[in-house]
Parts: sequence; C-alpha cells; structure tokens
Amino acid sequence: MFEKVTAAPPDAILGLTEAFKKDPRPDKVNLSVGIFKDDQGRTPVLKCVKEAERRLLEAEATKTYLSIEGSPEYGRAVRELMFGADHEVVRSNRACTAQCPGGTGALRVSADFLKKLFPSATVWFSTPTWPNHQGIFKSAGLNVAAYPYFDAAKNSLDFDGLLSALKSVAAGDVVCLHGCCHNPSGVDPTPTQWGAIADVLAERGALPLLDFAYQGFGRGLKEDAAGLFALARPGAELLIASSFSKNFGLYNERVGALTLVAKDSAAAETALSQIKSCVRTNYSNPPSHGGAIVATVLGDSALRQQWNEELAAMRNRISGMRSLFQKTMESRKTGRDWSFITQQIGMFSFSGLKPEQVDALREKHGIYFVRDGRINVAGMNAASMDRLCDAIVSVL
Ligand code: LMR
Repeated sequence: MFEKVTAAPPDAILGLTEAFKKDPRPDKVNLSVGIFKDDQGRTPVLKCVKEAERRLLEAEATKTYLSIEGSPEYGRAVRELMFGADHEVVRSNRACTAQCPGGTGALRVSADFLKKLFPSATVWFSTPTWPNHQGIFKSAGLNVAAYPYFDAAKNSLDFDGLLSALKSVAAGDVVCLHGCCHNPSGVDPTPTQWGAIADVLAERGALPLLDFAYQGFGRGLKEDAAGLFALARPGAELLIASSFSKNFGLYNERVGALTLVAKDSAAAETALSQIKSCVRTNYSNPPSHGGAIVATVLGDSALRQQWNEELAAMRNRISGMRSLFQKTMESRKTGRDWSFITQQIGMFSFSGLKPEQVDALREKHGIYFVRDGRINVAGMNAASMDRLCDAIVSVL
C-alpha cells in the first residue's frame, strides 16, 4: 500500500528548520520559526520554569491521568492570566478551559468542536495568516474563507477592507482573529479598532475565535489583551486558543488551552462536555508537565514576579533588535522607508520580500526566512546584524 503514497510538501515553517539543520554552512542563520533566542543565539529555559520544575519533581507523587479537560488549577490560571481575576467573565464562571497540547492542539480541538456542533459554519482567517491556520480547520472538515487584513503598500492594517469584509460574514460563522502580535505581519488593531471589530461581529451574530499565542510579547500582558477585552463584553460568546510556548518558553512541552466563554455558567458547562468528547476521541487527555509548570509559577507570587521580569526582558530584547535592524537597514541607503520594522510588534517582522528574494537569501547566504517574507526578529542578534542587512540589500 505505501509504495503508492506520494510525498507531502514540506511544512511552510517547520520544513524550513528541517532544511536549516541539513545546511552545512557554519554561518547559516534561521529566522524562520518563531522561537525566542538570546543575544548568543540560545533559547534558555526560564529561571522561574527551572525552579517550578525543581519543586514539581520533589512533590510529584503520581503519574496518573489528568481529567479529560486537564488540571483545574491550570484552567483557572489560564483564565485569570488572560482576563485578570476580577473580570466579569472569570467571576461569573461563564468561561471553561480545556488544557490542550499547545496552541495548535487548542485550535484543532476548537475545529473538531465547531465541526461537530456547527458543521455548516465557515471559518474566516486574515490575509495573510499563520500558514497552518486554514489547514487545521480544513482537516477537521470545515469550510474556510479569508478577509483582508494587511495593506502591503502601506505596511499597515487594511482596516476598511477588514471591517467591510466582516460586515458580510453570515450569522453563525466563525472569525479567527490574532489576539496580539499578528503572525506574520506584526500589525495589530488599536483598542478603538478592536471595539469596532467587536461591534460588527456582535451585529452579524458571528463567533470570534481568538488565537492568543503571544500575550506579553507585544506591549505587556494587559496591553496585549486589548482585543480580548473588546470581544468579551457582557453576554458575548467567544473561543480562545492560547499558548505558553512563547511567553514561558515552553515550546516542546506543548502547553496550551482552549477557553470557551458562554452566555452563562450552565451553558459553559454543557459546551465543555462537548469539548471533552472531542478531546477523548483525539488524544484522550492532555500531558501534565507543562501545565503544572505554568500553574506553579502563576500560583506563587515570587515565581510570578520572576516570570514577569523574564518576560519583560524577552520583550525588551525584541524591541531592541527591531531598532537595531531598522537603523542598520537605514544606514544601507536603499531609498526605502524601514520605519515599519519598529512600528510592528511581537516576534515577527513582515519584510515585504518576495518569495524569490527569500529563496535567494537562503540559497546564496544561508539566511532562512518564511517564504511569505516573515522574519523572526526574536532570532536576530547584534553580531550578525550587518551580515543580515547586507544580504537583504543584495536581494532587493
Ligand atoms: C511560528 O509561527 O513560527 C510558530 O507558531 C511555530 C509554528 O508552529 O509554526
């Protein structure tokens, strides 16, 4: 049977890391996958995580299964971090959380849940979006569609295009929005624009699905939740797929969450029973370790404080790299405006390079970007900035 199988294309992001690993050039640079690196090019384990793991190792008494929706302490920690403990959504208990293997796992569980309960819903994604988004929802059997988001000519949000497309979505459709640090463009709506987006979705009767994978990587934990606060108005329903890969550096622990916000706590509990049935037929119940780390850190005031500081240091390093990248590109006198680099936020910069230019960078210089022109700013360092910028200039 398997002799007839033809090869699948490499993944748009992770496939590049596979190619990078095979590249023998010693000065190769991987700015494709979204992983934070320090100035020495390392991705160290956060100190607060190491301490939480030490405590967990000491206290761990069993490896028995978690419940289908995962640890309740973790679920509470997720909701309180996203919304704040005093938010109406948290206090009223109208949100429930399933611990999932990564943000991607949470998206897939949401897709299975939507397909099971609302099979005719179309799921809308920004243009551009994370290359895996549409595939996850298509794999679950849902219809997908696209709305305009990024104005490449102006390097900014195409807010009019976005809003007018949202005005045409059908009642019961699902609109996926990036909670903050839009991947790949690094361009987010302002709080006022978020309010207008929430108004239109409410008028249309569409369900927002927030992909919230970078909280704390943009402007700060609370500032990055501006979209969430706009959408979670009293009585409003919402799905949130969140992740601790980036803000806790827990990439390979696969620790994420699907949070469902319903009209009231009874509706949330009923909906959770359906989410649990999707989980049970997929991976049965989640892995424990990553969620236990997060719950330990967020549940201890000293560790939480340490995490806030480590997160701020990552955020500040990214914005320092943005400034240096812009300054170095400007010093090359290309005649182009590079100010967009410091206007974008989060891990990524959308360079505007064409796929052929990205290919040339990889082939001639061993520098890896995603083919849509996305660069992982969090992977840059001062030592290789000149070489990076010279290489970009050579392919312009
Ligand atoms: C990325 O966009 O690079 C990350 O979210 C990693 C991934 O899984 O694609």
